[in-house]
Amino acid sequence: MKGLILAGGKGTRLYPLTFTSAKQLIPVANKPVLFRVIEAVHEAGIEDIGIVVGDTAEEIKQAVGRGNRWGVNITYIHQENPLGLAHAVKVSRDFLGDERFVMFLGDNVIQGGISSLITEFAGSEWNCEIVLTRVEHPEQYGVAELSDDGRILQLIEKPQEPPSDLALVGIYMFDSTVFEAVEAIKPSWRGELEITDAIQWLVSAGYKVFPYVHRGWWIDTGRPGDMLDANSMVLEELEHKVEGYVDRDSQVAHNVTIERGAEIINSVVRGPTIIGRKARIINSYVGPYASISHHVEIVNSEIERSIVLEHSRITDIPARIQDSLIGREVIIERSPMKPKAHKLTLGDHSHVGILNGAA
Ligand code: G1P
Repeated sequence: MKGLILAGGKGTRLYPLTFTSAKQLIPVANKPVLFRVIEAVHEAGIEDIGIVVGDTAEEIKQAVGRGNRWGVNITYIHQENPLGLAHAVKVSRDFLGDERFVMFLGDNVIQGGISSLITEFAGSEWNCEIVLTRVEHPEQYGVAELSDDGRILQLIEKPQEPPSDLALVGIYMFDSTVFEAVEAIKPSWRGELEITDAIQWLVSAGYKVFPYVHRGWWIDTGRPGDMLDANSMVLEELEHKVEGYVDRDSQVAHNVTIERGAEIINSVVRGPTIIGRKARIINSYVGPYASISHHVEIVNSEIERSIVLEHSRITDIPARIQDSLIGREVIIERSPMKPKAHKLTLGDHSHVGILNGAA
């Protein structure tokens, strides 16, 4: 069985973070979402993995490499334009050959236990297996309608009036009959070849499509709030350990990970939280639900439920920073210079929430 991971797309909803970097490389609990996806596929015993890349190809190649780190073999497949998930399958035909494969969206985070499902499909006689989960806003996803005995009646992409609350999660398993389907379908109203339409085609043609309903959490990390939710979920599941230095004046909860070379000085760290390599937390309050990347410095400040990327510095901020996504090499500091005002140098598409009445 092979793996196909989709890592194209511009990630416009995560601007400006994704202006300079691929959305699949934004870390949750200090590890890029794409790395988590590679690990999930590898856990199912798959060693041949194709990654479909678009505009951010170079950055992804640089971060992932050839896969030695995970003991897998990575092949990059270029998709010139983001013309849909079924189009991504089409351009991957040479890589996939006639083998069964699992397709995983590179920006999805799912609670563990999916690997046994993939292994099961490898030895089954199903032509396709889809993963469904109940969601609050099914109209934003591909939606499945099942019969009372659990068979698929129909699949629709982003229906205005969803027939159920069962959304298609970004994990799909196929055999080579999917190539017939992706050739047969036409682009949707949004101009994309939808994988949902291809699977509907398989159902209509009488192929065996098995629906699996996932009961744990699943997050499509498209927007900043989703990123923070995924971060919280993964932090809760992390096996925590302290490899850095904690001084005697600090309080660090048991569900905190402190990576090698990090220093916690006179601070309180509430879990679940992760403090990255060589980060320094001084006279500060961090957590719960914070992911502080490597080489970040937090001094005389408070931060909760946030992600801070590498080499950023937060100094002397009196009000607590919360629900924030802070990019790389960002500096947030108290300015002694007059006038007494907020002085901001922000990239395009930045979003800042200023505390009401703050000086
Ligand atoms: C895509 C699929 C959709 C699926 C979703 C899962 O949507 O088209 O069927 O439910 O991924 O994340 P998109 O992200 O392209 O809007």
